[in-house]
Amino acid sequence: MVEVVLARTEALRVCYGRVAALHDVSVTIREGQIVTVVGANGAGKTTLLCALMGLLPHTGRIEFPQWPTAALTVGERIRAGVCLVPETRDLFGTMPVEDNLRLGGFSRRRDKAYSASRTLEEVYTLFPRLKERRRQSANTLSGGERQMLALGRALMAKPKLLMLDEPSLGLAPLVTKEIIAAIAGLRDRNVSILLIEQNARAALAVADYAYVMETGTVTLEGPADAVARDQRVVESYLGARRREDPAVAPAPQDRPAAEERTATTSSIGDRRFAAPVRQGRAGQGSVA
Ligand SMILES: Nc1ncnc2c1ncn2[C@@H]1O[C@H](COP(=O)(O)OP(=O)(O)OP(=O)(O)O)[C@@H](O)[C@H]1O
Ligand SMILES: [Mg+2]
Repeated sequence: MVEVVLARTEALRVCYGRVAALHDVSVTIREGQIVTVVGANGAGKTTLLCALMGLLPHTGRIEFPQWPTAALTVGERIRAGVCLVPETRDLFGTMPVEDNLRLGGFSRRRDKAYSASRTLEEVYTLFPRLKERRRQSANTLSGGERQMLALGRALMAKPKLLMLDEPSLGLAPLVTKEIIAAIAGLRDRNVSILLIEQNARAALAVADYAYVMETGTVTLEGPADAVARDQRVVESYLGARRREDPAVAPAPQDRPAAEERTATTSSIGDRRFAAPVRQGRAGQGSVA
């Protein structure tokens, strides 16, 4: 099967003022894959998503080989099918659920093949709870329902590349499991995903390919299952599997407790899987 590259960065550098948040970051997202980026707070994960969306000035290259324009504007990226669901979710709080969803399809309004009603039904099939609450205003939803709405609104635009920033942030383990399972299901609907997730174990279990970022640099990459077994990743990002957390798949090995969000930023060193492996579905895991 020919592997299609949807997005790629090469030697990407992003600065906030004089401080560089990303140095020389090269990542590739291939069609049909879930790619995850694991890293401690401040590693540059959100910055990477914002740069890919076209929201930040940068040097180096950001390419979308499937779409003709070399430097797409934010609007062109959205119309091409690139979609970012930010950590803040950014819902229209006083508007009903269904209006939030319909707004998600706005960018497709001139697309003759697009049917908002049909897409809405697809979203309701994926998240039946949104259908039950379709007349309720967004700011009365629970945290999990708000995340479902943010995902559903993104799906209304029929994205080809969906970038998710911390979709399980603040959610209970069971809801996290539901959200991660829904994300895994999107891959089967031909949506490719770049997933940033505080729950590194759950992200690595569901992803095909993974990058580890530290202080603005990619320090390790490879098939997600190989990265999840890397001793340095286990020690820095996975820690002991919390037995009460049903959002995660069985761990290859357990280690003394260390919360993902407070993972160390010590250097992982060489990008052990960088050269010899090609991206593929080999790393695909399951959510228990
Ligand atoms: N608007 C900004 N102005 C100045 N510095 C910023 C800005 N946004 C981010 N930074 C800095 O850039 C670095 C990367 O931040 P970023 O938000 O991308 O990290 P992150 O990996 O997403 O972290 P987290 O896991 O906490 O969300 C951090 O040092 C942060 O303080
Ligand atoms: Mg972030």
